[in-house]
Amino acid sequence: MARSGDEATAIRAAEGGAEKSAYVREAFSSIAPRYDLLNHLLSFNIDRVWRRKAIATLAMDRKPSGTYLDLCAGTLDVSVALADLNRFACRVVAVDFAEPMLRAGVSKILRKPVAPVAGDVLSLPIASASVAGAIVAFGIRNVSDVDSALSEVHRVLEPGGRLVILEFSTPRSPLINTAYQLYFRRVLPLVGSVVSGHPTAYRYLPRSVANFPVMEELARRMRVAGFSRVKWRSLTLGIVAIHVGER
Ligand SMILES: C[S@@+](CC[C@H](N)C(=O)[O-])C[C@H]1O[C@@H](n2cnc3c(N)ncnc32)[C@H](O)[C@@H]1O
Repeated sequence: MARSGDEATAIRAAEGGAEKSAYVREAFSSIAPRYDLLNHLLSFNIDRVWRRKAIATLAMDRKPSGTYLDLCAGTLDVSVALADLNRFACRVVAVDFAEPMLRAGVSKILRKPVAPVAGDVLSLPIASASVAGAIVAFGIRNVSDVDSALSEVHRVLEPGGRLVILEFSTPRSPLINTAYQLYFRRVLPLVGSVVSGHPTAYRYLPRSVANFPVMEELARRMRVAGFSRVKWRSLTLGIVAIHVGER
Protein backbone atom coordinates (compact mmCIF):
# COMPACT_ATOMS: atom_id res chain seq x y z
CA MET A 1 0.00 0.00 0.00
CA ALA A 2 1.42 3.42 -0.98
CA ARG A 3 1.29 5.56 2.14
CA SER A 4 1.17 9.13 0.87
CA GLY A 5 2.78 10.61 3.98
CA ASP A 6 5.94 8.58 3.48
CA GLU A 7 8.81 10.55 1.85
CA ALA A 8 10.38 7.58 0.05
CA THR A 9 7.02 6.58 -1.43
CA ALA A 10 6.45 10.16 -2.63
CA ILE A 11 9.85 10.20 -4.36
CA ARG A 12 9.24 6.85 -6.04
CA ALA A 13 5.75 7.99 -7.12
CA ALA A 14 7.16 11.20 -8.64
CA GLU A 15 9.66 9.06 -10.57
CA GLY A 16 6.79 6.95 -11.96
CA GLY A 17 7.14 3.93 -9.71
CA ALA A 18 4.53 1.19 -9.38
CA GLU A 19 2.90 2.91 -6.40
CA LYS A 20 2.30 6.16 -8.29
CA SER A 21 -1.42 5.66 -8.84
CA ALA A 22 -2.17 4.75 -5.21
CA TYR A 23 0.08 7.56 -3.91
CA VAL A 24 -1.57 10.18 -6.12
CA ARG A 25 -5.09 9.10 -5.23
CA GLU A 26 -4.36 9.09 -1.52
CA ALA A 27 -2.46 12.39 -1.54
CA PHE A 28 -5.13 14.30 -3.49
CA SER A 29 -7.91 12.77 -1.40
CA SER A 30 -6.12 14.04 1.68
CA ILE A 31 -5.37 17.60 0.46
CA ALA A 32 -8.78 18.09 -1.22
CA PRO A 33 -10.23 20.54 1.36
CA ARG A 34 -7.22 22.90 0.96
CA TYR A 35 -6.48 22.29 -2.73
CA ASP A 36 -8.16 25.41 -4.19
CA LEU A 37 -6.72 27.75 -1.58
CA LEU A 38 -3.20 26.43 -2.14
CA ASN A 39 -3.52 26.55 -5.92
CA HIS A 40 -4.36 30.23 -5.95
CA LEU A 41 -1.96 31.11 -3.13
CA LEU A 42 1.10 29.29 -4.48
CA SER A 43 0.61 30.48 -8.06
CA PHE A 44 -0.25 34.07 -7.03
CA ASN A 45 -3.59 33.49 -8.81
CA ILE A 46 -1.93 33.04 -12.22
CA ASP A 47 -3.42 29.52 -12.34
CA ARG A 48 -6.77 31.14 -13.25
CA VAL A 49 -5.18 32.79 -16.31
CA TRP A 50 -3.48 29.51 -17.36
CA ARG A 51 -6.77 27.58 -17.15
CA ARG A 52 -8.58 30.31 -19.16
CA LYS A 53 -5.96 30.14 -21.92
CA ALA A 54 -6.14 26.34 -22.05
CA ILE A 55 -9.93 26.45 -22.30
CA ALA A 56 -9.69 28.99 -25.15
CA THR A 57 -7.35 26.56 -26.95
CA LEU A 58 -10.10 23.94 -26.86
CA ALA A 59 -12.02 26.27 -29.22
CA MET A 60 -15.44 24.96 -28.25
CA ASP A 61 -17.10 27.04 -30.96
CA ARG A 62 -15.77 24.43 -33.43
CA LYS A 63 -18.16 21.95 -31.82
CA PRO A 64 -20.58 24.03 -29.77
CA SER A 65 -22.75 21.18 -28.52
CA GLY A 66 -22.03 17.66 -27.37
CA THR A 67 -20.02 16.25 -24.52
CA TYR A 68 -16.71 17.67 -23.31
CA LEU A 69 -14.43 15.86 -20.90
CA ASP A 70 -12.62 17.51 -18.03
CA LEU A 71 -10.07 14.83 -17.14
CA CYS A 72 -8.32 14.68 -13.77
CA ALA A 73 -10.98 17.25 -12.99
CA GLY A 74 -10.10 17.71 -9.32
CA THR A 75 -12.25 20.39 -7.69
CA LEU A 76 -14.03 21.18 -10.96
CA ASP A 77 -12.70 24.66 -11.79
CA VAL A 78 -12.16 23.76 -15.45
CA SER A 79 -15.58 22.06 -15.69
CA VAL A 80 -17.32 25.17 -14.37
CA ALA A 81 -15.45 27.42 -16.79
CA LEU A 82 -16.31 25.13 -19.72
CA ALA A 83 -19.99 25.06 -18.81
CA ASP A 84 -20.13 28.84 -18.35
CA LEU A 85 -18.21 29.62 -21.51
CA ASN A 86 -20.42 27.52 -23.69
CA ARG A 87 -23.65 28.94 -22.30
CA PHE A 88 -24.96 25.49 -21.42
CA ALA A 89 -25.11 24.12 -24.98
CA CYS A 90 -22.65 21.40 -24.03
CA ARG A 91 -22.46 18.82 -21.30
CA VAL A 92 -19.29 18.39 -19.28
CA VAL A 93 -18.26 15.04 -17.85
CA ALA A 94 -15.67 15.56 -15.11
CA VAL A 95 -13.57 12.49 -14.36
CA ASP A 96 -11.28 12.05 -11.39
CA PHE A 97 -10.31 9.00 -9.36
CA ALA A 98 -9.99 10.90 -6.05
CA GLU A 99 -13.61 11.27 -5.00
CA PRO A 100 -12.88 13.79 -2.20
CA MET A 101 -11.50 16.20 -4.85
CA LEU A 102 -14.78 16.03 -6.81
CA ARG A 103 -16.77 16.40 -3.58
CA ALA A 104 -14.75 19.48 -2.62
CA GLY A 105 -15.83 21.15 -5.88
CA VAL A 106 -19.39 19.94 -6.17
CA SER A 107 -20.96 23.13 -4.76
CA LYS A 108 -19.51 25.02 -7.78
CA ILE A 109 -21.59 23.08 -10.30
CA LEU A 110 -25.11 23.59 -8.95
CA ARG A 111 -27.52 24.04 -11.88
CA LYS A 112 -24.68 23.64 -14.38
CA PRO A 113 -24.53 20.82 -16.95
CA VAL A 114 -21.54 19.15 -15.30
CA ALA A 115 -21.58 15.47 -14.32
CA PRO A 116 -18.79 14.46 -11.93
CA VAL A 117 -17.70 10.86 -12.39
CA ALA A 118 -15.36 8.96 -10.08
CA GLY A 119 -13.22 7.06 -12.57
CA ASP A 120 -9.78 6.39 -13.94
CA VAL A 121 -8.52 8.23 -17.01
CA LEU A 122 -6.74 5.03 -18.03
CA SER A 123 -10.07 3.28 -18.48
CA LEU A 124 -12.80 5.79 -19.30
CA PRO A 125 -16.39 4.57 -18.95
CA ILE A 126 -17.19 6.30 -22.25
CA ALA A 127 -18.02 5.02 -25.74
CA SER A 128 -15.44 5.36 -28.51
CA ALA A 129 -15.63 8.43 -30.79
CA SER A 130 -18.37 10.01 -28.63
CA VAL A 131 -16.94 13.23 -27.16
CA ALA A 132 -16.47 16.62 -28.82
CA GLY A 133 -13.32 17.56 -26.93
CA ALA A 134 -11.24 16.90 -23.83
CA ILE A 135 -9.04 18.94 -21.55
CA VAL A 136 -6.68 17.94 -18.77
CA ALA A 137 -5.29 20.64 -16.50
CA PHE A 138 -2.34 19.76 -14.26
CA GLY A 139 -3.47 16.14 -14.38
CA ILE A 140 -1.58 14.13 -17.00
CA ARG A 141 1.69 14.42 -15.06
CA ASN A 142 0.00 12.61 -12.20
CA VAL A 143 -1.27 9.71 -14.29
CA SER A 144 0.79 6.56 -13.86
CA ASP A 145 0.94 5.76 -17.62
CA VAL A 146 0.91 8.89 -19.82
CA ASP A 147 0.96 6.99 -23.13
CA SER A 148 -2.00 4.80 -22.21
CA ALA A 149 -3.92 7.87 -21.04
CA LEU A 150 -3.25 9.63 -24.36
CA SER A 151 -4.45 6.57 -26.29
CA GLU A 152 -7.55 6.30 -24.13
CA VAL A 153 -8.47 9.95 -24.73
CA HIS A 154 -7.84 9.51 -28.45
CA ARG A 155 -10.23 6.53 -28.44
CA VAL A 156 -13.17 8.49 -26.98
CA LEU A 157 -12.79 11.66 -29.11
CA GLU A 158 -14.91 12.20 -32.20
CA PRO A 159 -12.94 12.72 -35.41
CA GLY A 160 -11.73 16.34 -35.32
CA GLY A 161 -12.16 16.51 -31.53
CA ARG A 162 -9.38 18.26 -29.65
CA LEU A 163 -7.36 17.28 -26.62
CA VAL A 164 -5.83 20.20 -24.71
CA ILE A 165 -3.20 19.58 -22.05
CA LEU A 166 -2.22 22.26 -19.55
CA GLU A 167 0.79 21.21 -17.52
CA PHE A 168 3.79 22.51 -15.62
CA SER A 169 7.06 22.60 -17.47
CA THR A 170 10.64 23.66 -16.82
CA PRO A 171 11.76 27.19 -17.83
CA ARG A 172 14.46 27.11 -20.52
CA SER A 173 16.42 30.14 -19.32
CA PRO A 174 19.01 28.96 -16.72
CA LEU A 175 18.66 32.20 -14.78
CA ILE A 176 14.89 32.03 -14.55
CA ASN A 177 15.01 28.31 -13.87
CA THR A 178 17.38 28.79 -10.94
CA ALA A 179 15.08 31.35 -9.30
CA TYR A 180 12.04 29.28 -10.10
CA GLN A 181 13.52 26.05 -8.69
CA LEU A 182 14.36 27.88 -5.49
CA TYR A 183 10.71 28.78 -5.11
CA PHE A 184 9.36 25.45 -6.41
CA ARG A 185 11.65 23.21 -4.33
CA ARG A 186 12.00 25.24 -1.14
CA VAL A 187 9.16 27.73 -0.58
CA LEU A 188 6.28 25.80 -2.17
CA PRO A 189 6.78 22.51 -0.24
CA LEU A 190 7.05 24.42 3.03
CA VAL A 191 3.90 26.50 2.52
CA GLY A 192 2.12 23.48 0.99
CA SER A 193 2.81 21.20 3.92
CA VAL A 194 1.86 23.82 6.54
CA VAL A 195 -1.43 24.80 4.86
CA SER A 196 -2.51 21.35 3.64
CA GLY A 197 -1.21 19.43 6.64
CA HIS A 198 0.13 16.82 4.22
CA PRO A 199 3.83 16.02 4.69
CA THR A 200 4.78 15.03 1.12
CA ALA A 201 2.20 16.15 -1.48
CA TYR A 202 3.95 19.47 -2.16
CA ARG A 203 7.36 17.77 -2.28
CA TYR A 204 6.00 15.31 -4.82
CA LEU A 205 4.85 18.25 -7.02
CA PRO A 206 8.27 19.68 -8.11
CA ARG A 207 9.72 16.18 -8.43
CA SER A 208 6.85 15.05 -10.64
CA VAL A 209 7.38 18.09 -12.88
CA ALA A 210 11.11 17.33 -13.16
CA ASN A 211 10.23 13.77 -14.26
CA PHE A 212 7.56 14.82 -16.75
CA PRO A 213 8.44 14.83 -20.48
CA VAL A 214 9.71 18.15 -21.87
CA MET A 215 7.40 19.98 -24.27
CA GLU A 216 8.77 18.49 -27.52
CA GLU A 217 8.68 14.99 -26.05
CA LEU A 218 5.08 15.30 -24.90
CA ALA A 219 4.13 16.53 -28.38
CA ARG A 220 5.92 13.52 -29.90
CA ARG A 221 4.08 11.14 -27.60
CA MET A 222 0.74 12.75 -28.52
CA ARG A 223 1.53 12.06 -32.18
CA VAL A 224 2.45 8.45 -31.37
CA ALA A 225 -0.93 8.08 -29.60
CA GLY A 226 -2.58 9.09 -32.88
CA PHE A 227 -3.12 12.84 -32.49
CA SER A 228 -2.64 15.09 -35.53
CA ARG A 229 -2.05 18.87 -35.81
CA VAL A 230 -0.15 18.71 -32.51
CA LYS A 231 1.09 22.11 -31.34
CA TRP A 232 2.28 23.56 -28.09
CA ARG A 233 3.23 26.88 -26.57
CA SER A 234 4.77 27.85 -23.29
CA LEU A 235 3.40 30.50 -20.92
CA THR A 236 4.82 32.55 -18.05
CA LEU A 237 8.51 32.14 -18.96
CA GLY A 238 8.07 28.40 -19.59
CA ILE A 239 6.60 27.54 -16.19
CA VAL A 240 3.60 25.94 -17.90
CA ALA A 241 2.81 24.70 -21.39
CA ILE A 242 -0.36 24.15 -23.36
CA HIS A 243 -0.40 21.29 -25.86
CA VAL A 244 -3.19 20.67 -28.33
CA GLY A 245 -3.86 17.85 -30.77
CA GLU A 246 -6.81 16.52 -32.78
CA ARG A 247 -8.16 13.08 -33.42
C1 LIG B 1 -3.25 18.62 -9.70
S1 LIG B 1 -4.86 17.97 -9.70
C2 LIG B 1 -5.60 18.89 -11.03
C3 LIG B 1 -7.05 19.20 -10.78
C4 LIG B 1 -7.71 20.16 -11.76
N1 LIG B 1 -7.69 19.66 -13.11
C5 LIG B 1 -7.10 21.54 -11.70
O1 LIG B 1 -6.87 22.13 -12.75
O2 LIG B 1 -6.90 22.06 -10.61
C6 LIG B 1 -4.60 16.37 -10.42
C7 LIG B 1 -5.80 15.47 -10.34
O3 LIG B 1 -5.56 14.32 -11.17
C8 LIG B 1 -6.25 13.24 -10.60
N2 LIG B 1 -5.75 12.00 -11.23
C9 LIG B 1 -4.47 11.57 -11.29
N3 LIG B 1 -4.40 10.39 -11.95
C10 LIG B 1 -5.66 10.09 -12.33
C11 LIG B 1 -6.24 9.01 -13.05
N4 LIG B 1 -5.49 8.01 -13.52
N5 LIG B 1 -7.56 9.02 -13.28
C12 LIG B 1 -8.34 10.04 -12.81
N6 LIG B 1 -7.87 11.08 -12.10
C13 LIG B 1 -6.53 11.11 -11.87
C14 LIG B 1 -5.98 13.40 -9.12
O4 LIG B 1 -6.88 12.68 -8.33
C15 LIG B 1 -6.11 14.92 -8.94
O5 LIG B 1 -7.40 15.30 -8.53
